[in-house]
Amino acid sequence: MIRRHTLTEHIMQEQRKYPGASGGFTGLLSDIATASKIIAREVRQAGLGNILGAAGSTNVSGDEVKKLDLIAHEIFVNVLERTGHLCIMASEEDEDPITIPDRFPAGKYVFVFDPLDGSSNIDANVSVGTIFSIFRKISTDERGGMVDILQPASEQICAGYIVYGSSTLFVYTVGHGVHGFTLDPTIGEYILSHEDIRMPDQGQVFSINEGNRSRWFDYTSDYVDWIKSSVPDEGRPYTARYIGSLVADFHRNLLYGGIFLYPEDRENPNGKLRLLYEAAPIAFLAEQAGGLATTGETSIRSIEPAELHQKVSLIVGSRNDVLAYERFRRGDRP
Ligand code: AHG
Ligand code: MN
Ligand code: MN
Repeated sequence: MIRRHTLTEHIMQEQRKYPGASGGFTGLLSDIATASKIIAREVRQAGLGNILGAAGSTNVSGDEVKKLDLIAHEIFVNVLERTGHLCIMASEEDEDPITIPDRFPAGKYVFVFDPLDGSSNIDANVSVGTIFSIFRKISTDERGGMVDILQPASEQICAGYIVYGSSTLFVYTVGHGVHGFTLDPTIGEYILSHEDIRMPDQGQVFSINEGNRSRWFDYTSDYVDWIKSSVPDEGRPYTARYIGSLVADFHRNLLYGGIFLYPEDRENPNGKLRLLYEAAPIAFLAEQAGGLATTGETSIRSIEPAELHQKVSLIVGSRNDVLAYERFRRGDRP
């Protein structure tokens, strides 16, 4: 029988590196995995249960909210609020922090998440995902507060995503590399399928929404024109790939190499993506896999968040590709 290493075993193995560990973090990651399995089931059957389509509201970022955005949000809140591991949560789908009800014990971790990323694609059956980040509580307040949420990416103790695609994949890092687990629905377990993922230093894929070109600053247009004409060592020009789900676009580039760009433009001085629950976790994962994640000028991990839903430009991917964009951003040309 093939030895199948489960996510639970992997987390326990990680926990053994910390002799004083209480097991609380292990329990939290397992609970996140449980919530993701429930969402995977909802996403798989979305077309059957009248849960596709718009929820009839917009979120604090002004995005149209889909029914599945709210379903995913509620699943995570309901599963995680009762575990005793969290002191507070923050979600794309809630303007304010989510406190742990008094009827449940509070813990020492903070959970920040995008319950369903790429949800504009969900009705078309295109891959979507969840993105999450975990911090330690830093305040003295038993039930946490905004100060525990507004921590820089460098303080994350864990970041991860789940891609609900052709298979359901759980990818995470605790600072010891990036590891991927594929859900085996026949046993309901995530099985190790991508151990120690390394992002190639140079890719051949660029991901950017060229529909925004009329708003781009010159350095972005010049970079995209260059990347479309440049021929990397392997002799093939770069390929354009853009799914419109950050988690799916990033996952492809993580495996194959490449660059994802959502830069600032004339109408969006800070781009579109949110720092806390999109850029920061993706940046932790990218760097753990040997890649880079910046605004084009500064590393994502160094930014001190000022607001829960603040936006940031995100340039993330293979090291050499991100460095090339940064040269254009500061006015250099090859
Ligand atoms: P969300 O569905 O959580 O609001 O995120 C959507 C984001 C991200 O997933 C994707 O990269 C980006 O929006 C696509 O934006 P455009 O449609 O403007 O290209
Ligand atoms: Mn998102
Ligand atoms: Mn979302």
